Amino acid sequence: MNDLDLSAHWMPFTANRQFKKNPRLLVKGEGVHYTDAEGRKIFDGLSGLWTCGAGHGRKEINEAITSQLNTLDYSPGFQFGHPLSFELANKVVELTPSGLDKVFFTDSGSETIDTVLKMARGYWRNKGQPSKTKFIGRHKGYHGVNFGGLGVGGIGFNRKLFGQTVEADHIPHTVLEENKFSRGMPENGAHLADELEELVLLHDASNIAAVVVEPMSGTSGVLPPPRGYLDRLRQICDKHDILLIFDEVITGFGRMGSYSGAEEFGVMPDMMTVAKQITNGAIPLGAVVVKSEIYDIFVESGGPDYMVEFPHGYTYSAHPVACAAGIAALDLLVREDLVQRVKEMSSFFEESIHTLRSAPFVTDIRNYGFAGGISLEHYPGEPLRRPFELGVKCFEKGYYVRWGGDTVQLAPPFVSTKDQIDSLINVVGESLNELAKS
Ligand SMILES: Cc1ncc(COP(=O)(O)O)c(C=O)c1O
Repeated sequence: MNDLDLSAHWMPFTANRQFKKNPRLLVKGEGVHYTDAEGRKIFDGLSGLWTCGAGHGRKEINEAITSQLNTLDYSPGFQFGHPLSFELANKVVELTPSGLDKVFFTDSGSETIDTVLKMARGYWRNKGQPSKTKFIGRHKGYHGVNFGGLGVGGIGFNRKLFGQTVEADHIPHTVLEENKFSRGMPENGAHLADELEELVLLHDASNIAAVVVEPMSGTSGVLPPPRGYLDRLRQICDKHDILLIFDEVITGFGRMGSYSGAEEFGVMPDMMTVAKQITNGAIPLGAVVVKSEIYDIFVESGGPDYMVEFPHGYTYSAHPVACAAGIAALDLLVREDLVQRVKEMSSFFEESIHTLRSAPFVTDIRNYGFAGGISLEHYPGEPLRRPFELGVKCFEKGYYVRWGGDTVQLAPPFVSTKDQIDSLINVVGESLNELAKS
């Protein structure tokens, strides 16, 4: 690989200068491991990018993809269909909470968010309430990188270069001093949902289309919802006739130990987004899942039946190969009972990650299901540096973890063994100790 020219590829969400001086190239994935360009085995401590819970190189998924490619490699998604998208939609409906009955396919999390925002505005306009256009997101929320998702998102670093986005305001995040080192759902913070009432007073519900939150934020360093918080958001949305959208791009299909955050936390949104785990990462695919009522209003308002009811969609929406991958990946999750496995092993993961409490620089640890976030003491004026140093050190030791903001995130594959989880945690601890000595 030494003669590979790295100069042309402008890499996404990557420190290009640092990477190209010291590349971390992965060339193979099998089970819970990658192999890098030097032939070293690397434990996948983030399941790809929260995508590959069932492990890499799953034969069932790969065979479904290959067979689909050889049968129907592409079919136009506008005005024509193929059977697999209907089959996959039915599976998605089975695995998401009952009441969410209609599925619209996209190709990524970011597209899914922008799709759901357009659906929410279209819904209100079709209902004769066109002033309901504003969105309420949450500070520290991550909803991808397109303009809609940026607008409802709450991570300043991701937004500041890009100017105006959609009309959005934000409720506070739920990171509280008194919740530090909570296990699972923190006890304090349900009251923070009441801040939504303040924004309703400010903007008026007649101007608000929807509230958009991740049931558990992953990108901001794993922030499980405080007890009672999501229920309170639901109540306030009901009171003011505002749609509640759960962005389940990370929490959908197993990471929480349930098929969705909505199921795990017992709160029903009006609309939900999924992506990542839906194909186990093998092919890009996302989906919006909504209550029938939302679909019905579009259909009823659609004019003569030859008219398109929702003028939206992507060239690759419901791509047949992606649908084949989705069907195989969801079948595999169910057949191997991997979501139940996460539920059963989540207390083990919790115990293990919290042993890092006394490690150098650790200021907080949060966890839920197979997701853990560790916050680290900042270098003066450089909050992003220590997580980067930790991530690189772990990689040198054969472990991949994700760094972002002042945190590192861990999300081991659902198929990880207890020994593998313990080794991952030990390597993080060992690396922190070495950083403290350097
Ligand atoms: C909650 C959430 N929404 C949206 C996205 C964006 O997904 P994508 O990177 O596939 O566009 C992500 C990605 O991490 C996410 O975590």
